[in-house]
Amino acid sequence: ERFEASLAALDDEVPPANRTQNRLSPPLPRAPEAFRNEPDTDPALVANRVWAHAILERTAQSTLGERTAAAARVDDDAQLAGLLRDTAEAGRHWGRVAPHARAELLERAAEVLSVFRGRLIEVMAAETGKTLAEADVEVSEAVDFAVHYAAAARELPAIRDATFAPVPFVLVVPPWNFPVSIPAGGVLSALAAGSAVVLKPAPQARRSAAVLAEALWEAGVPRELLRLVDVDEDALGRRLVTSPEVGRVVLTGSYETAALFRSWRAELPLLAETSGKNAIVITPSADLDLAVKDLVASAFGNAGQKCSAASLAILVGSVGESERFRRQLADAVASLAVGYPQEASTVVGPLVEPPSGKLARGLTRLAEGESWLVKPRQLDGTDRLWSPGVRDGVAAGSDFHRTEFFGPVLGLMRAADLDEAIALQNAVDYGLTAGIQSLDADEVAHWVDTVQAGNLYVNRPITGAIVRRQPFGGWKRSSVGTSVKAGGPNTLLALGDWHPVPAAP
Ligand code: SER
Repeated sequence: ERFEASLAALDDEVPPANRTQNRLSPPLPRAPEAFRNEPDTDPALVANRVWAHAILERTAQSTLGERTAAAARVDDDAQLAGLLRDTAEAGRHWGRVAPHARAELLERAAEVLSVFRGRLIEVMAAETGKTLAEADVEVSEAVDFAVHYAAAARELPAIRDATFAPVPFVLVVPPWNFPVSIPAGGVLSALAAGSAVVLKPAPQARRSAAVLAEALWEAGVPRELLRLVDVDEDALGRRLVTSPEVGRVVLTGSYETAALFRSWRAELPLLAETSGKNAIVITPSADLDLAVKDLVASAFGNAGQKCSAASLAILVGSVGESERFRRQLADAVASLAVGYPQEASTVVGPLVEPPSGKLARGLTRLAEGESWLVKPRQLDGTDRLWSPGVRDGVAAGSDFHRTEFFGPVLGLMRAADLDEAIALQNAVDYGLTAGIQSLDADEVAHWVDTVQAGNLYVNRPITGAIVRRQPFGGWKRSSVGTSVKAGGPNTLLALGDWHPVPAAP
C-alpha cells in the first residue's frame, strides 16, 4: 500500500505521454522475449513540453539529493571499516535469496525509477548541466537496466555445469557524465547477481547519485544492501578500493583511474569501462547529409563529454575535398544552440566544470598544419559555456589524433582510401566506439572485419547505446580487467565466482 501511495504521490514526476505506459502497464515481470526498451519523453507532445518546462523551472533552485548526499560523507577509517563490514554481512544474506526474488526487487526498481523520471532529470540538469533531452534518455536507460538485469537474474539458475557464487559486495565507481544511468547499471547488475553494493559517487555528481539511491530505497532495496559512501579520492578512497572485502570493483572512468586502482592493488577484481578516442569514417559512397547529421550528434551530444563521443571524422578520398561537406558541417555546428539546460532550446549544454589540462588545450591550441573550420568560443564568464569547434588538418600520430579530450571539439583527418582510414581509426590506444558512413555493403563488411572497437555503428550516430540492443563496452585501453559489456547477456556472469559442479559419482 505504501508503495502504491508513493507512486500516486509522484504522479507529476511522470511525463503525461508515458503515464499510461509506465503506470498502468501489466505488472512485471516481463518475459525476456517481451523486453521492450523504456520510451523517452516525446517532446512533440504539447503536454510533455509543459511537463518538461516545469522541471526546468525548478532546476535553477533545485536542492534535490542534498541531504542524502551530505549524509553519505565518510571521513574516517573506523566509520568506513564498520560500513564495509555491515555491507558484506548484508550481502552474504542477499546472495542466499533466490534469483527470482532478487529479480522481483529489480522489477519494482524499474517502476519506481520510471516515476522518478522528473526528479532525476531535475537533479542531473541542476548538478551537471545536462540538457533535458540528454538527462531524459538516462532515465530510460536506468529503467532498461533494471528490467534487463532482472531477466538476467532469472536466467542464472539455468546455467549448467557450474554454480554461480555471488560475492558479498561490489563497489561501484561511476563517472559524472552519465550520473544516473551508469551508476544504475552498476548497482542493479550487482544486486541482480546477489551482492550488496557500495556506490561511491563522482564528486561532480553526488546529488544525482543520491536521488538515484533514494529511488532504489523507495523501491524496497534495503539500505544495508545499497550504501552511498562518499569518500575523497585520497587515503580513504584508496582504503575503500583496496579493501579485501570488495568482491568486484565496477569502474567507469578514465584509463588513468583504472591504472591507479591497479597500482594500489595488483590483483584487484576490476571490471572497468574506460576512455575512448572514437572516429567516424566517411567514404565517398556515403549519404553526406546523413553523415553530417550523425557526426554532429555523435561529437557534441552532452557537449562532447561522453567516452563514446566521436572525436574524429576520417574523410576518405573525395570527401576530404568536398567543399559542400565542409560547408554543411560548419553550418550545422555553428547553428547548434549552446546554453544552459533551463533554456528548452539548448542542444549543447555547459561543461561540467571549466576546461583544464587536455581539454583546455583541445579547445584553444592548434598543432602545425591544423586550422579551425569552426573555432570554439567561450560564451560567458563562467568558463563552462563553450560553443563547439571543428579543427581541420589533424595529422596522423598527432596529439589530437591520439588523445581523448572529452569536450566539444571534433577533428577532421583525411585518408586516401578505406584501408588507410581504418588504419588511422585503429592507430589509437583505445577501442570503444567506431562508426562508418557508407552505402557500399562491401566497404561496410570490410570495415566491420577490421576495425578495433567494442561498439560499431553503421550509418547512424555512435553514442547512446541501447540496453540489450547494443551491449556497451570496449577493447584495448577502453577496458581494464574483466571485459564484459554493460546491458548485455553476460554482465552478471562476471560479477560472481564460478564453482564447477562435481561430476556425478
Ligand atoms: N553508454 C553510453 C553511450 O553509448 C556511454 O557510456 O553513449
